Amino acid sequence: MPKLNENYLNLKESYLFSEIGHRVSTYIAANPDKNVIRLGIGDVTLPIGSEIIAELHEGVNALASADTFKGYGPEQGYDFLRNAIVDYYKRNDVLIESDEVFVSDGAKSDTGNITELFAGDNTILIPDPVYPVYVDTNIMNGQNITYLDATEDNDFLPMPDFKLHADIIYICSPNNPTGAAYNKEQLKIWVDYALENDAIILYDSAYECFITDTSLPRSIYAIEGSKKCAIEFCSLSKTAGFTGTRCGYTIVPKSLKFTASTGDVLSLNAMWNRRQTTKFNGVSYIVQKGAAAVFSVEGMAQCKNNIKYYQENARIISEGLARKNIRYFGGINSPYVWFKCPNEMDSWDFFDYLLANAQIVGTPGAGFGKNGQKFFRLTSFGSRESTLEAMERIDILF
Ligand code: MLT
Repeated sequence: MPKLNENYLNLKESYLFSEIGHRVSTYIAANPDKNVIRLGIGDVTLPIGSEIIAELHEGVNALASADTFKGYGPEQGYDFLRNAIVDYYKRNDVLIESDEVFVSDGAKSDTGNITELFAGDNTILIPDPVYPVYVDTNIMNGQNITYLDATEDNDFLPMPDFKLHADIIYICSPNNPTGAAYNKEQLKIWVDYALENDAIILYDSAYECFITDTSLPRSIYAIEGSKKCAIEFCSLSKTAGFTGTRCGYTIVPKSLKFTASTGDVLSLNAMWNRRQTTKFNGVSYIVQKGAAAVFSVEGMAQCKNNIKYYQENARIISEGLARKNIRYFGGINSPYVWFKCPNEMDSWDFFDYLLANAQIVGTPGAGFGKNGQKFFRLTSFGSRESTLEAMERIDILF
């Protein structure tokens, strides 16, 4: 009999969004005539821009001729895409090198897979509330997690305690679920803390395209010293509507080096390259063709139009909540609006209440951690019509 990874016993029974999906399917099966509005999981609804679609077609066409056919590609991603990403960073005044960029099928996989580079006895700091993947993947590996409270008192932006040591620090900015975003000064303090502790920051920038305040950093590498202490994960899911298409990238600077117990100095870039070449055969050529077009001037302009549409939805949600005196956060540099459940309700109770009485699906804050217990998240990724309709229903309900 195989001995099982019993760390799985320490996980919640199902992944947050699977649990939501299950509750919604049960409700719909019992109430087939109801019009359910889904503002739960952050899944985009607008079609992908035409510039990008044209390149996806080009990718398909290439596979139809022997002279342009592509088989296995480089596990790290095609140079044309890695270089397009480097140029995109350069346009935002951040310099990275193409062999520091690893193309993948998304930030979810990479933020989970990166845990393989680290031993099991690290001190890991994870904010609470947080994107559940960071927590669940560390529980799967039997890691001990120290939670950092992100609350109204610190504007959901916890800062390091220099008296306490950490080895691995997770930061997501703009944050999922709270929508809060660190400024450069705050991130510099995190970088200083990581350098002082010889720690690594795992920085998720999946929502950088939603930043409207130009003083806010879109990448951890806008902060001095960060290339010695940070890996950055990003995704085209929200930037370009690739939630189904799947493409993201991880930046592992070559200057990230740590000493092993043997005394050997190991490069995380080389380790990640070793891991990816062994376990991953790369993203399809077709998808990478489309992804490269995201970073072209025209492609990015189309992406930005879609993002503006979602930002307007976020404004509609925020204003609707404000009208009802419901305290909300986020929604400005983020597609998520995070708010206090009315009447001090518990977030899963509020989830059931909202579904049963207004047929709106949101995400209960408790799914992101204990500090989310009394909070709820709505996404701006729905259609304009469904967002307006949802806020009308909330208007009537409260
Ligand atoms: C969310 O709703 O939190 C995200 O869409 C989940 C994800 O990106 O995997």
